[in-house]
Amino acid sequence: MLSKAVLKALNEQINHEMYSSYLYLSMAAWCEAKNFPGFAQWMKLQSSEETKHAMKLYEFIHDRGSAVTLLAIDQPATEFKSPAKMFELALEHERKISALITKLYELAGKENDYPTQVMLQWFITEQVEEEKTAVGIVEQFKMVGESPVSLLMLDRQLGARSNA
Ligand code: FEO
Repeated sequence: MLSKAVLKALNEQINHEMYSSYLYLSMAAWCEAKNFPGFAQWMKLQSSEETKHAMKLYEFIHDRGSAVTLLAIDQPATEFKSPAKMFELALEHERKISALITKLYELAGKENDYPTQVMLQWFITEQVEEEKTAVGIVEQFKMVGESPVSLLMLDRQLGARSNA
């Protein structure tokens, strides 16, 4: 059984991951409407990756003999200033998620909950990857700017992503 504090924090983290999924899906929807099919494809895959993160926590809670409580998901932003600004927001969001995972890891340590810490190590590694990917995209936008040709090129490039 998980302690009350760890269970509460894990349930909240499911909510953060589901919000991430919702946020990226909202970004995808904005990209579709603006005729950026490649960015939309990238965001849809990112959204489904976030659902998988939530499910990892969901399964873990049950594996430990506790119960999942799903919380309300906030409405994400629906408008973005530009594709570059949207990816900057995504990076900012991933940094917030990394900080939340770190806090969760610290809490599990305080509660002497080593299995939860071991499980969270996967998320710590994943966040390094998530931030690295987002930084890479933000840097590419800075390098080439947002001229129509640059946007067309980046849209094609990001649209080639096939894994979630
Ligand atoms: Fe599940 Fe992108 O953090």
